[in-house]
Amino acid sequence: MNDYSKATELLYTGLTAGGMDFGNPLTIPYYGTTAFKAGTVAEMQEVARDRFSYCRFSQPNREVLAQMVSFLEEGEKSLIFSSGMGAIMTTLMTLLAPGDAVLCNSNIYGETFLIMTDILPKFGVRVDMVDFCDNEAAAAALRPETKLIYTEVCANPVHKMADIPFLAKLAHGNDALLMVDNTFTTPVAIRPITFGADIVINSLTKFMNGLSDAIEGSITASAEIIKKLEYTQPLFGTAGDPYAAWTMYKNFGTMDLRVRRQQLNAARLAEALEKHPQILKVNHPSLESFPQKALAEKLFKNKETMSGMLSIVLPEGEDGRAPMVYVDQFTKALRFVRFAGTMGGIHTTITNPVTSSHCDVPDDKRRAMGITPGMIRISCGIEDTDDLIREFEQALDAIER
Ligand SMILES: Cc1ncc(COP(=O)(O)O)c(C=O)c1O
Repeated sequence: MNDYSKATELLYTGLTAGGMDFGNPLTIPYYGTTAFKAGTVAEMQEVARDRFSYCRFSQPNREVLAQMVSFLEEGEKSLIFSSGMGAIMTTLMTLLAPGDAVLCNSNIYGETFLIMTDILPKFGVRVDMVDFCDNEAAAAALRPETKLIYTEVCANPVHKMADIPFLAKLAHGNDALLMVDNTFTTPVAIRPITFGADIVINSLTKFMNGLSDAIEGSITASAEIIKKLEYTQPLFGTAGDPYAAWTMYKNFGTMDLRVRRQQLNAARLAEALEKHPQILKVNHPSLESFPQKALAEKLFKNKETMSGMLSIVLPEGEDGRAPMVYVDQFTKALRFVRFAGTMGGIHTTITNPVTSSHCDVPDDKRRAMGITPGMIRISCGIEDTDDLIREFEQALDAIER
């Protein structure tokens, strides 16, 4: 079926798994069993090797979802984990050993940052954190013992981008692997493996599932790397929940429709809000003002398929009032957009990074990252684009200066 679009082919991916055709149903049922039985010792051995035996090791609904993720990311194989963090932690603990070094983008998700700075050093792994907006700084930080380079495509909440093809060459020249977190951008916008990445992690919990009703993570890589993870995943107990995998299988059918609308909404909203007098700055890779515009054009297909996220910055209070007063006035004036500590769902949500994701980072460091108290991070849903623009414009108009 390889002359159809990815959106069409995804609907017909994952219809068999582990030698089962599931009796040919139109949609795959949920397998609510922790184990599969066998009639003989030989059959049990065969089941354990090639099919499904106990659900911490392998499970049909997880396997179906893994096939869909491999198809989307254009990778050889995938594994489904209990969460994005489960996927990241299991992979790092499997591939790294004491004495190894990791070169990591300093612009990354807060909890990945903590794994790098708090957890890995306890196991004898050195981590060099560098701002990957600067390719030369990244190259200069490489060590002979660097075994893995880690980055996101676009980092929360300012959208700082990493040059994936450059980092892939850097990694491979050092016999190291490039691991990329594609959660923000999704395979609808970019497939890092096609730019040279070796391992792609997704928090499926966000845009890819999109309905805010299940948590899972995925790793996509070569069969050789996945084989190593197939050994450790059951030992660490980080395999994805089968019911969540089934939920996601159903929600993946509408992923292309949803995520394209979310990314279009973000680009249009960014363009409209940049013109609003109450706004100091808008961060989205589709904008002419985006500092890494050339890199965005190199990595993404077009302006409307980049990212469903954006951030806006409200000015600080000139009259001595804390910026939070303006943030609160703005938030109270929103009619349907909700304040929520997640992203990627079909309903547009906002957060205030200084009181959520970056609350533990000192103010001067936050400001150096472009994050001020008046920043609002927006995760676009699938609402009508004009309604969404009107919703934000009227809330900005409600700020009293
Ligand atoms: C970029 C990124 N990576 C990984 C994760 C972790 O995902 P999960 O919450 O599924 O563990 C998140 C969560 O927000 C994220 O934003």
